[in-house]
Amino acid sequence: MRLHGKVAIVTGGAHGMGEAEVRLFAREGAKVVVADILPELGAAVVADICTTGGTAMFQKIDVSQALIAATLAAYGRIDVLVNNAGISGSAVGDPDSIEGWNRLIAVNQTSVFLGTKLAAAEMMKTGGGSIINISSINGFVGSDGGHPGYHASKGAVRIYSKAAAVRYGPHGVRVNSVQPGYLPPMLNGTNGNTRALAVAQTPMRRIGVPIDVAYGVLYLASDEASFVTGSELVIDGGWLAQ
Ligand SMILES: NC(=O)c1ccc[n+]([C@@H]2O[C@H](COP(=O)([O-])OP(=O)(O)OC[C@H]3O[C@@H](n4cnc5c(N)ncnc54)[C@H](O)[C@@H]3O)[C@@H](O)[C@H]2O)c1
Repeated sequence: MRLHGKVAIVTGGAHGMGEAEVRLFAREGAKVVVADILPELGAAVVADICTTGGTAMFQKIDVSQALIAATLAAYGRIDVLVNNAGISGSAVGDPDSIEGWNRLIAVNQTSVFLGTKLAAAEMMKTGGGSIINISSINGFVGSDGGHPGYHASKGAVRIYSKAAAVRYGPHGVRVNSVQPGYLPPMLNGTNGNTRALAVAQTPMRRIGVPIDVAYGVLYLASDEASFVTGSELVIDGGWLAQ
């Protein structure tokens, strides 16, 4: 019960890594808010958690303010926010279009700024909390096939998280980022075609599974990480080490 009594929001919690995180958080005693744009998938995850003794609610979002308000209305506080929602470069197509660039920056980067700012304001009122922002190994390096807007947005999440850690640290709010390596394709299909190459290039000789990342996020969410802020946790099977 590493999150006993805590209220935790996971954006993009209906699928993929976010789904693994809400299921793990609920098992560890948190009251979980599954925030996503996909109501059917989200409601199914919540129903599953509730029938196995956990506490969870779904909140349809594309707007951070409404998410924070709904969480406070339901549970009265926020202890953990995982800014996990994201889209891949393939979701927006043409790597040279300004519309694609703006969409990637809005969903992957600006949402992290807004969520962090709003959640930190509430966490400060109750003595602190933990914010985990999901970046990527593609926030460290560029690639030929990857969308430049994806790389840019994920790199920005890393350094923004450090700035927020410095800003909110004196108020007890920790802010860290996590860099997953190659995992199963995102809903909108990022790396499906490059799986074999990714396995060959990863020292652990496999791609990751969502629970690999969820355990790292759980650590940062829990009080075990109470002296950890402004840090980056790379979970990539050694890909960045070479
Ligand atoms: N899969 C990978 O290989 C990989 C690697 C590194 C980093 N990441 C990052 O990890 C995070 C999770 O990725 P995943 O692979 O689990 O993806 P996924 O596509 O399986 O899940 C993402 C979830 O976010 C939701 N979402 C998308 N836009 C949203 C919005 N505007 N508001 C609310 N919810 C929204 C989707 O509906 C979906 O449920 C993303 O930020 C992604 O960039 C993924």
